[in-house]
Amino acid sequence: MSDNAIEIQGLQKTYAATGRSPAKEALKGIDLTIPRGSIFGLLGPNGAGKSTLINILAGLVVKSAGSVKIWGFDQDQNPRQSRAAIGIMPQEPHLDPFFTPAGSLDVQAGLYGVPKSQRKTAEILELIGLTDKADAYARSLSGGMRRRLLLGKALVHSPQVLVLDEPTAGVDIELRNMLWQNVRKLNEDGMTIILTTHYLEEAEEMCDDIAIINHGEVIVRDSTANLLGRLDRKTLVITPETDAALPALPDNITGQKHANGTLTFTYQSGITPAGQILSLVQDAGITIKDVKTEEAHLEDVFLSLTSSR
Ligand SMILES: Nc1ncnc2c1ncn2[C@@H]1O[C@H](COP(=O)(O)OP(=O)(O)O)[C@@H](O)[C@H]1O
Ligand SMILES: [Mg+2]
Repeated sequence: MSDNAIEIQGLQKTYAATGRSPAKEALKGIDLTIPRGSIFGLLGPNGAGKSTLINILAGLVVKSAGSVKIWGFDQDQNPRQSRAAIGIMPQEPHLDPFFTPAGSLDVQAGLYGVPKSQRKTAEILELIGLTDKADAYARSLSGGMRRRLLLGKALVHSPQVLVLDEPTAGVDIELRNMLWQNVRKLNEDGMTIILTTHYLEEAEEMCDDIAIINHGEVIVRDSTANLLGRLDRKTLVITPETDAALPALPDNITGQKHANGTLTFTYQSGITPAGQILSLVQDAGITIKDVKTEEAHLEDVFLSLTSSR
Protein backbone atom coordinates (compact mmCIF):
# COMPACT_ATOMS: atom_id res chain seq x y z
CA MET A 1 0.00 0.00 0.00
CA SER A 2 1.40 3.39 -0.93
CA ASP A 3 1.93 6.18 1.59
CA ASN A 4 0.34 8.69 -0.71
CA ALA A 5 -3.18 10.00 -0.48
CA ILE A 6 -3.03 11.19 -4.08
CA GLU A 7 -0.84 10.15 -7.01
CA ILE A 8 -1.18 12.10 -10.21
CA GLN A 9 0.80 11.28 -13.36
CA GLY A 10 0.91 13.12 -16.67
CA LEU A 11 -2.40 14.80 -16.01
CA GLN A 12 -3.64 16.91 -18.89
CA LYS A 13 -6.83 18.81 -19.47
CA THR A 14 -7.83 20.71 -22.56
CA TYR A 15 -11.24 22.36 -22.46
CA ALA A 16 -12.87 22.11 -25.87
CA ALA A 17 -13.49 25.26 -27.88
CA THR A 18 -16.99 26.68 -27.55
CA GLY A 19 -18.54 29.44 -29.63
CA ARG A 20 -15.99 32.20 -29.81
CA SER A 21 -13.61 30.87 -27.14
CA PRO A 22 -10.75 28.72 -28.47
CA ALA A 23 -9.71 25.42 -26.85
CA LYS A 24 -7.86 25.94 -23.56
CA GLU A 25 -5.04 23.74 -22.33
CA ALA A 26 -5.63 24.16 -18.59
CA LEU A 27 -3.28 21.37 -17.35
CA LYS A 28 -0.12 20.51 -19.27
CA GLY A 29 1.04 17.22 -17.79
CA ILE A 30 0.96 17.42 -14.01
CA ASP A 31 2.92 14.94 -11.87
CA LEU A 32 2.13 15.28 -8.20
CA THR A 33 2.03 13.11 -5.10
CA ILE A 34 0.40 14.17 -1.88
CA PRO A 35 1.39 12.28 1.28
CA ARG A 36 -1.19 10.79 3.61
CA GLY A 37 -1.93 12.74 6.74
CA SER A 38 -0.66 16.08 5.49
CA ILE A 39 -2.23 19.47 5.03
CA PHE A 40 -1.24 20.20 1.46
CA GLY A 41 -1.48 23.60 -0.19
CA LEU A 42 -2.10 24.07 -3.88
CA LEU A 43 -1.14 27.62 -4.77
CA GLY A 44 -1.11 29.57 -7.96
CA PRO A 45 -2.40 32.73 -9.56
CA ASN A 46 -5.90 32.98 -10.96
CA GLY A 47 -6.35 30.78 -14.00
CA ALA A 48 -3.37 28.56 -13.08
CA GLY A 49 -5.49 25.40 -13.18
CA LYS A 50 -6.10 24.75 -9.48
CA SER A 51 -9.86 24.27 -9.72
CA THR A 52 -9.48 22.16 -12.85
CA LEU A 53 -7.11 19.85 -10.98
CA ILE A 54 -9.40 19.63 -7.97
CA ASN A 55 -12.50 19.10 -10.07
CA ILE A 56 -10.76 16.22 -11.84
CA LEU A 57 -10.00 14.67 -8.44
CA ALA A 58 -13.66 15.12 -7.55
CA GLY A 59 -14.80 13.48 -10.76
CA LEU A 60 -16.57 16.69 -11.82
CA VAL A 61 -14.27 17.38 -14.78
CA VAL A 62 -13.13 14.65 -17.18
CA LYS A 63 -9.38 14.62 -17.75
CA SER A 64 -7.88 14.58 -21.26
CA ALA A 65 -4.91 12.35 -20.39
CA GLY A 66 -2.94 10.96 -17.48
CA SER A 67 -3.75 8.94 -14.38
CA VAL A 68 -5.12 9.79 -10.97
CA LYS A 69 -5.00 7.55 -7.92
CA ILE A 70 -6.91 8.47 -4.79
CA TRP A 71 -6.03 6.51 -1.66
CA GLY A 72 -4.44 3.90 -3.91
CA PHE A 73 -7.49 3.52 -6.18
CA ASP A 74 -7.11 4.39 -9.84
CA GLN A 75 -9.87 6.73 -10.90
CA ASP A 76 -10.51 4.81 -14.15
CA GLN A 77 -10.09 1.28 -12.84
CA ASN A 78 -11.83 1.75 -9.47
CA PRO A 79 -14.09 4.76 -9.90
CA ARG A 80 -16.37 3.91 -7.00
CA GLN A 81 -13.62 3.40 -4.42
CA SER A 82 -11.58 6.37 -5.55
CA ARG A 83 -14.63 8.59 -5.35
CA ALA A 84 -15.59 7.34 -1.91
CA ALA A 85 -12.14 8.28 -0.59
CA ILE A 86 -12.47 11.97 -1.33
CA GLY A 87 -14.78 14.81 -0.29
CA ILE A 88 -14.78 18.20 -1.97
CA MET A 89 -15.82 21.62 -0.77
CA PRO A 90 -16.15 23.39 -4.12
CA GLN A 91 -15.18 26.96 -4.90
CA GLU A 92 -18.60 27.90 -6.21
CA PRO A 93 -21.32 27.58 -3.56
CA HIS A 94 -24.17 25.61 -5.00
CA LEU A 95 -26.93 24.68 -2.62
CA ASP A 96 -30.33 23.26 -3.18
CA PRO A 97 -32.64 25.87 -1.64
CA PHE A 98 -35.43 23.38 -0.94
CA PHE A 99 -33.53 21.46 1.68
CA THR A 100 -32.76 22.26 5.29
CA PRO A 101 -29.14 21.71 6.44
CA ALA A 102 -30.10 18.37 8.01
CA GLY A 103 -31.98 17.44 4.84
CA SER A 104 -29.07 18.43 2.60
CA LEU A 105 -26.64 16.30 4.58
CA ASP A 106 -29.05 13.39 4.45
CA VAL A 107 -29.53 13.65 0.69
CA GLN A 108 -25.76 13.87 0.18
CA ALA A 109 -25.21 10.81 2.39
CA GLY A 110 -27.82 8.99 0.33
CA LEU A 111 -25.96 9.87 -2.89
CA TYR A 112 -22.85 8.27 -1.45
CA GLY A 113 -24.78 5.22 -0.31
CA VAL A 114 -24.13 5.76 3.39
CA PRO A 115 -26.64 3.56 5.26
CA LYS A 116 -29.03 5.45 7.57
CA SER A 117 -27.57 3.78 10.67
CA GLN A 118 -24.09 5.08 9.79
CA ARG A 119 -25.02 8.68 9.04
CA LYS A 120 -23.41 11.30 11.23
CA THR A 121 -25.77 14.18 10.52
CA ALA A 122 -25.91 15.47 14.11
CA GLU A 123 -22.15 15.19 14.56
CA ILE A 124 -21.46 17.11 11.34
CA LEU A 125 -24.01 19.81 12.17
CA GLU A 126 -22.27 20.24 15.49
CA LEU A 127 -18.84 20.49 13.84
CA ILE A 128 -19.98 23.16 11.38
CA GLY A 129 -21.96 25.03 14.04
CA LEU A 130 -25.35 24.61 12.42
CA THR A 131 -27.08 22.47 15.04
CA ASP A 132 -29.59 25.20 15.81
CA LYS A 133 -30.21 25.71 12.08
CA ALA A 134 -30.69 22.00 11.36
CA ASP A 135 -34.27 22.51 10.22
CA ALA A 136 -34.06 26.03 8.79
CA TYR A 137 -34.59 26.46 5.07
CA ALA A 138 -31.36 26.84 3.10
CA ARG A 139 -32.75 30.05 1.59
CA SER A 140 -32.74 31.61 5.05
CA LEU A 141 -29.06 30.81 5.71
CA SER A 142 -26.41 33.54 5.55
CA GLY A 143 -23.53 33.25 3.08
CA GLY A 144 -21.22 32.04 5.83
CA MET A 145 -23.67 29.36 6.95
CA ARG A 146 -23.97 28.13 3.37
CA ARG A 147 -20.21 27.73 3.12
CA ARG A 148 -20.20 25.80 6.38
CA LEU A 149 -22.91 23.56 5.04
CA LEU A 150 -20.78 22.92 1.93
CA LEU A 151 -18.01 21.75 4.23
CA GLY A 152 -20.50 19.50 6.02
CA LYS A 153 -21.64 17.99 2.72
CA ALA A 154 -18.03 17.13 1.85
CA LEU A 155 -17.81 15.11 5.07
CA VAL A 156 -20.94 12.91 4.98
CA HIS A 157 -19.19 9.80 3.64
CA SER A 158 -16.20 10.13 6.02
CA PRO A 159 -13.64 10.54 3.23
CA GLN A 160 -9.94 9.95 3.89
CA VAL A 161 -9.11 13.04 1.82
CA LEU A 162 -10.82 16.39 2.13
CA VAL A 163 -10.31 19.02 -0.56
CA LEU A 164 -11.20 22.66 -0.07
CA ASP A 165 -11.12 24.98 -3.07
CA GLU A 166 -10.49 28.57 -1.92
CA PRO A 167 -12.54 28.05 1.24
CA THR A 168 -11.76 31.46 2.68
CA ALA A 169 -12.01 33.65 -0.41
CA GLY A 170 -14.30 36.51 0.52
CA VAL A 171 -15.35 35.17 3.94
CA ASP A 172 -15.16 37.08 7.21
CA ILE A 173 -12.53 36.46 9.86
CA GLU A 174 -14.85 34.59 12.16
CA LEU A 175 -15.81 32.07 9.50
CA ARG A 176 -12.21 31.78 8.39
CA ASN A 177 -11.10 30.93 11.93
CA MET A 178 -13.86 28.40 12.27
CA LEU A 179 -12.90 26.75 8.99
CA TRP A 180 -9.26 26.51 9.99
CA GLN A 181 -10.14 25.13 13.41
CA ASN A 182 -12.24 22.46 11.72
CA VAL A 183 -9.53 21.67 9.21
CA ARG A 184 -6.92 21.29 11.95
CA LYS A 185 -9.19 19.07 14.00
CA LEU A 186 -10.06 16.84 11.03
CA ASN A 187 -6.36 16.59 10.18
CA GLU A 188 -5.47 15.66 13.76
CA ASP A 189 -8.07 12.93 13.55
CA GLY A 190 -6.20 11.58 10.53
CA MET A 191 -7.78 13.18 7.49
CA THR A 192 -5.53 14.31 4.64
CA ILE A 193 -6.37 17.88 3.66
CA ILE A 194 -5.76 19.57 0.33
CA LEU A 195 -6.57 23.22 0.00
CA THR A 196 -6.16 25.94 -2.53
CA THR A 197 -5.82 29.49 -1.41
CA HIS A 198 -4.32 32.60 -2.80
CA TYR A 199 -3.76 33.99 0.66
CA LEU A 200 -0.13 33.04 0.98
CA GLU A 201 0.11 33.78 4.68
CA GLU A 202 -2.65 31.30 5.18
CA ALA A 203 -0.77 28.60 3.28
CA GLU A 204 2.38 29.41 5.20
CA GLU A 205 0.54 28.99 8.47
CA MET A 206 -1.56 25.94 7.61
CA CYS A 207 0.28 23.75 5.13
CA ASP A 208 3.01 21.16 5.67
CA ASP A 209 3.72 20.89 1.96
CA ILE A 210 3.03 23.14 -0.96
CA ALA A 211 2.85 22.90 -4.73
CA ILE A 212 2.79 26.06 -6.77
CA ILE A 213 1.18 25.77 -10.16
CA ASN A 214 1.27 28.32 -12.93
CA HIS A 215 -0.10 28.08 -16.48
CA GLY A 216 -1.11 24.46 -15.92
CA GLU A 217 2.28 23.24 -14.72
CA VAL A 218 3.75 22.47 -11.31
CA ILE A 219 6.66 24.87 -10.96
CA VAL A 220 7.69 23.88 -7.47
CA ARG A 221 6.70 21.33 -4.86
CA ASP A 222 8.37 21.25 -1.49
CA SER A 223 7.79 21.44 2.24
CA THR A 224 6.72 24.87 3.41
CA ALA A 225 9.89 25.12 5.53
CA ASN A 226 12.15 24.32 2.56
CA LEU A 227 10.35 26.77 0.33
CA LEU A 228 10.89 29.53 2.82
CA GLY A 229 14.53 28.50 3.28
CA ARG A 230 15.05 28.50 -0.48
CA LEU A 231 15.05 32.25 -0.72
CA ASP A 232 17.73 32.69 1.94
CA ARG A 233 16.76 36.30 2.20
CA LYS A 234 16.52 38.27 5.39
CA THR A 235 15.82 41.84 6.22
CA LEU A 236 17.38 43.68 9.14
CA VAL A 237 15.24 46.55 10.37
CA ILE A 238 17.07 49.23 12.32
CA THR A 239 15.48 52.13 14.17
CA PRO A 240 18.13 54.83 14.75
CA GLU A 241 18.12 56.90 17.95
CA THR A 242 18.04 60.11 15.89
CA ASP A 243 17.33 60.70 12.21
CA ALA A 244 20.10 59.16 10.10
CA ALA A 245 20.97 58.80 6.42
CA LEU A 246 21.54 55.40 4.86
CA PRO A 247 25.27 54.54 5.04
CA ALA A 248 27.19 53.55 1.89
CA LEU A 249 26.73 49.80 1.30
CA PRO A 250 28.63 47.05 -0.51
CA ASP A 251 26.93 45.08 -3.34
CA ASN A 252 25.80 42.21 -1.12
CA ILE A 253 23.47 44.45 0.92
CA THR A 254 20.48 46.44 -0.31
CA GLY A 255 19.40 49.32 1.89
CA GLN A 256 16.38 51.55 2.10
CA LYS A 257 15.38 54.48 4.28
CA HIS A 258 11.68 54.65 5.12
CA ALA A 259 9.43 57.63 5.85
CA ASN A 260 9.21 56.71 9.54
CA GLY A 261 13.01 56.90 9.86
CA THR A 262 13.71 53.14 9.99
CA LEU A 263 16.52 51.74 7.85
CA THR A 264 16.08 48.31 6.27
CA PHE A 265 18.88 46.14 4.95
CA THR A 266 18.13 43.10 2.82
CA TYR A 267 20.79 40.41 2.53
CA GLN A 268 21.38 36.71 2.00
CA SER A 269 22.11 35.14 5.35
CA GLY A 270 24.27 32.46 3.71
CA ILE A 271 26.63 35.13 2.37
CA THR A 272 26.39 38.14 4.63
CA PRO A 273 26.59 37.97 8.43
CA ALA A 274 24.18 40.35 10.15
CA GLY A 275 27.17 41.59 12.17
CA GLN A 276 28.63 43.17 9.04
CA ILE A 277 25.54 45.34 8.67
CA LEU A 278 25.54 46.32 12.32
CA SER A 279 29.22 47.34 12.06
CA LEU A 280 28.55 49.39 8.93
CA VAL A 281 25.73 51.21 10.70
CA GLN A 282 27.77 51.87 13.84
CA ASP A 283 30.82 52.95 11.80
CA ALA A 284 28.58 55.54 10.14
CA GLY A 285 28.03 57.02 13.60
CA ILE A 286 24.43 55.85 13.91
CA THR A 287 23.18 54.95 17.39
CA ILE A 288 20.83 51.98 17.19
CA LYS A 289 17.66 52.30 19.24
CA ASP A 290 16.06 49.07 18.09
CA VAL A 291 16.90 46.21 15.75
CA LYS A 292 14.98 43.22 14.45
CA THR A 293 15.17 40.75 11.56
CA GLU A 294 12.41 39.67 9.20
CA GLU A 295 12.44 36.32 7.44
CA ALA A 296 11.36 35.73 3.87
CA HIS A 297 7.68 35.04 3.39
CA LEU A 298 6.01 32.64 1.05
CA GLU A 299 4.82 35.64 -0.89
CA ASP A 300 8.42 36.42 -1.86
CA VAL A 301 9.00 32.84 -2.98
CA PHE A 302 5.78 32.90 -4.91
CA LEU A 303 6.57 36.14 -6.67
CA SER A 304 10.10 35.10 -7.53
CA LEU A 305 8.77 31.89 -9.10
CA THR A 306 5.69 33.13 -10.91
CA SER A 307 6.61 36.64 -12.06
CA SER A 308 9.28 35.64 -14.58
CA ARG A 309 6.91 33.44 -16.60
N1 LIG B 1 -15.31 24.96 -18.07
C1 LIG B 1 -14.29 25.59 -18.67
N2 LIG B 1 -14.28 25.77 -20.01
C2 LIG B 1 -13.26 26.39 -20.64
N3 LIG B 1 -12.17 26.87 -20.00
C3 LIG B 1 -12.13 26.74 -18.66
C4 LIG B 1 -13.18 26.11 -17.93
N4 LIG B 1 -12.85 26.11 -16.61
C5 LIG B 1 -11.66 26.73 -16.52
N5 LIG B 1 -11.22 27.11 -17.75
C6 LIG B 1 -9.96 27.79 -18.06
O1 LIG B 1 -8.89 26.97 -17.63
C7 LIG B 1 -7.87 27.73 -17.00
C8 LIG B 1 -7.68 27.25 -15.55
O2 LIG B 1 -8.83 27.60 -14.79
P1 LIG B 1 -9.03 27.15 -13.28
O3 LIG B 1 -8.73 25.70 -13.17
O4 LIG B 1 -10.37 27.61 -12.86
O5 LIG B 1 -7.88 28.00 -12.56
P2 LIG B 1 -7.73 28.45 -11.03
O6 LIG B 1 -8.68 27.66 -10.19
O7 LIG B 1 -6.30 28.21 -10.72
O8 LIG B 1 -8.04 29.92 -11.01
C9 LIG B 1 -8.30 29.18 -17.10
O9 LIG B 1 -7.71 29.73 -18.24
C10 LIG B 1 -9.80 29.08 -17.27
O10 LIG B 1 -10.29 30.18 -18.00
MG1 LIG C 1 -10.15 28.21 -8.87
